Amino acid sequence: MKTLNVRAIAARVCFQVVEQQQSLSQVLPSAQQPLSPADKALVGEISYGVLRHLPVLDQLVSVQLSKKFGRKDRVIHHLLMVGAYQLYFMRTAKYAVLSETVEAARALKAKHLTKLVNAILRKLDRERPSLPDETPVFKYRHPNWLIQKIKTAYPHHWQTILEQNNQRSPMWLRNNARQQPRSQYLADLKQADIHASAGPSDNAMLLEQPHGVTQLPRFMEGSASVQDAAAQWAAELLICQPNDRVLDACAAPGGKTCHLLERYPWIQELVAIDIEPQRLQSIDENLKRLQLSANIQVGDASDFSTWHQGAHYDRILLDAPCSATGVIRRHPDIKWLRQASDITCLVKRQADILDACWQHLKPNGVLLYATCSVLPEENEQQIANFLARTPNAKHCPIEHAPEKIGWQILPGQDNMDGFYYARLQKLMETDL
Ligand SMILES: C[S@@+](CC[C@H](N)C(=O)[O-])C[C@H]1O[C@@H](n2cnc3c(N)ncnc32)[C@H](O)[C@@H]1O
Repeated sequence: MKTLNVRAIAARVCFQVVEQQQSLSQVLPSAQQPLSPADKALVGEISYGVLRHLPVLDQLVSVQLSKKFGRKDRVIHHLLMVGAYQLYFMRTAKYAVLSETVEAARALKAKHLTKLVNAILRKLDRERPSLPDETPVFKYRHPNWLIQKIKTAYPHHWQTILEQNNQRSPMWLRNNARQQPRSQYLADLKQADIHASAGPSDNAMLLEQPHGVTQLPRFMEGSASVQDAAAQWAAELLICQPNDRVLDACAAPGGKTCHLLERYPWIQELVAIDIEPQRLQSIDENLKRLQLSANIQVGDASDFSTWHQGAHYDRILLDAPCSATGVIRRHPDIKWLRQASDITCLVKRQADILDACWQHLKPNGVLLYATCSVLPEENEQQIANFLARTPNAKHCPIEHAPEKIGWQILPGQDNMDGFYYARLQKLMETDL
């Protein structure tokens, strides 16, 4: 069997993300698929690393080139960044970086560029120019528009947020309370020599080191799931009562759907919808593994007329499509895929979904609005605008932020992803 060149694969992944605007979660798994576990991990490490440090690596490489690569050879620019990443950020032996990266140029059908790749990497290794840091884009490795937005929103914390976005993310698990108490699963992890501690919400557990899911006790039988602790607050905050009819309005891939079912076995029915038919399959797979069931449908949460039948809902979880600026440490490609202009469209989409869901919430019912964003226009401002135009909506403060509209979790806070939650109750007509 022909061996696949790991550096060539990583360069192609970075090329597809940066130049073809594909998401890392789309391209990485299929690129890794034919590889051994060790090579999978290496492609992941390099691709994430290049995307985390993109502006500085791009600059290091660009100043070595007398002219830019043409379209056909553009992937070699990414290969040089892969080489530079290994030289500057990894402990890979120098000879392996040089020989394997040059070999990768051949694998990428750029035999005519192998000498150039070799010369540039040798020069970088020999001269070790320092990483550029003279502008915030270089220093914080974010696009300027996003730095400005975060700086304006968080004048006292913006640097910490940007720095946290460039950290590796920890691995959090969610204990399946239907199968065992968390203390039991923590004991099972210990038995398997996996070090973990209890997290802030009832079933969250933080692993000291990431592990493959197949190493986790009874993972395939549904004893636990991988889910960040910030996302686990959704089920805790929605608080479902016996016989509630619950809607998960933007449900795929189903992390929160499953958590709601684990946490509240007394729910009468959980309807889980998503607008993307191909993403529904992942909800189904998650439910099967966890031995749970829900009413899954393709549906547009901003237009109930196309899918909804039956009674209104007692509880609605609206985990809205958003900029995902709170989860950049898990998805560094977001920095390079999002544009400033996307935010206005997202804010409008969120408002449309919020208004439509509200129409289908029972009086006295509760809607939990959630995003994995840190931008106030998608979060606190979105909810303030909603409250201003919706007389029968009452904001119910969350105990973690009693003075604020909603609860903004910042990336890295208690080791969590950046997330936002706002709890809204629909007033009865007699309360108006
Ligand atoms: C943040 S993700 C949801 C994550 C999910 N709640 C979980 O915990 O696994 C947002 C989802 O909203 C879906 N979506 C976007 N617009 C929608 C709409 N108008 N109606 C329903 N779903 C929508 C997207 O396809 C995406 O799957």
